[in-house]
Amino acid sequence: MEKDLKHLRKDYVKHHLTEEEAGFDPYRLFDLWFSEAQKSEPEATAMVLSTCGDRPHSRVVLLKEVRDREFVFFSNYNSHKGRDIELNPHVSLLFFWHSLERQIRIDGIAMKVSHIESDNYFYSRPVESQIGAIASAQSDVISGRKELEDRILELSEYFRHHPIVRPEHWGGYAVRPEVFEFWQGRPSRLHDRIQFSRTDMGWKRERLSP
Ligand SMILES: Cc1cc2nc3c(=O)[nH]c(=O)nc-3n(C[C@H](O)[C@H](O)[C@H](O)COP(=O)(O)O)c2cc1C
Repeated sequence: MEKDLKHLRKDYVKHHLTEEEAGFDPYRLFDLWFSEAQKSEPEATAMVLSTCGDRPHSRVVLLKEVRDREFVFFSNYNSHKGRDIELNPHVSLLFFWHSLERQIRIDGIAMKVSHIESDNYFYSRPVESQIGAIASAQSDVISGRKELEDRILELSEYFRHHPIVRPEHWGGYAVRPEVFEFWQGRPSRLHDRIQFSRTDMGWKRERLSP
C-alpha cells in the first residue's frame, strides 16, 4: 500500500496558551482543559498509554479517576501492558483532543492501586463486564472468537449460582506524574507548548519550542 498525504494541511487556529493562562499548577490546567474536552469530545477520557518493557508499546485506555494527584485506569495485570509495567513502571499518558486542537502528555510512574480500590471499581461495573474481565486472558493468542464466546457462556452459567469474585490479575494502576506537557495548536505550526516538571521545590514551568 502506498499513500502520499503530504498535501493534507490543517492550520490550528482555535486557542492559545499563555504563561498567564497556564499558571503554576499543572493539575489546575489539566482540570480546566479536561472540563472543556468533556463538552466537545466524544471520548475525552480516552488516553494513549505507552509502556516500555523491552520495547515501546502503546494502546488506548480510559481514565477512570484522578485522586491524590494520580491518574487511575484499570486493566489486566497479566496483559502485555501489565507485563511491561512490571519490568519498567515508567509510562506515558497522552490525551489528544482534536476538537480543541490540544494534546496533554503526562510522563510518570505507574503503581498498582489497593485491592479495595480495584474491588470497588470492579463491582461497580455491569455484570457482563465483570464476567468479560474474568473470561479474557487479555493479550493472549486465542484460536478464534468462538473460544471467547464459549468461555463467556460457560462462566455466565457458572455465575448464575456462584458469586462473582474479582480475579487477582484484574485491577487498577495509578500514575504519579513527573512531567506534564500541554500543547495547544497554533497557526503556521508555531504551537504553544508549556511543560511542568516535578522538582523537590514544586513544579518547574518552562516553554518548549514547537
Ligand atoms: C476507546 C478505548 C478504550 C479502551 N479502554 C481500555 C481500558 O480502560 N483498559 C484496558 O485494559 N484496555 C482498554 N482498551 C483496549 C486497549 O487499547 C488494549 O487493546 C488492551 O488493553 C490490550 O493491550 P495490551 O495487549 O497492550 O496490554 C481500550 C481501547 C479503546 C480503543
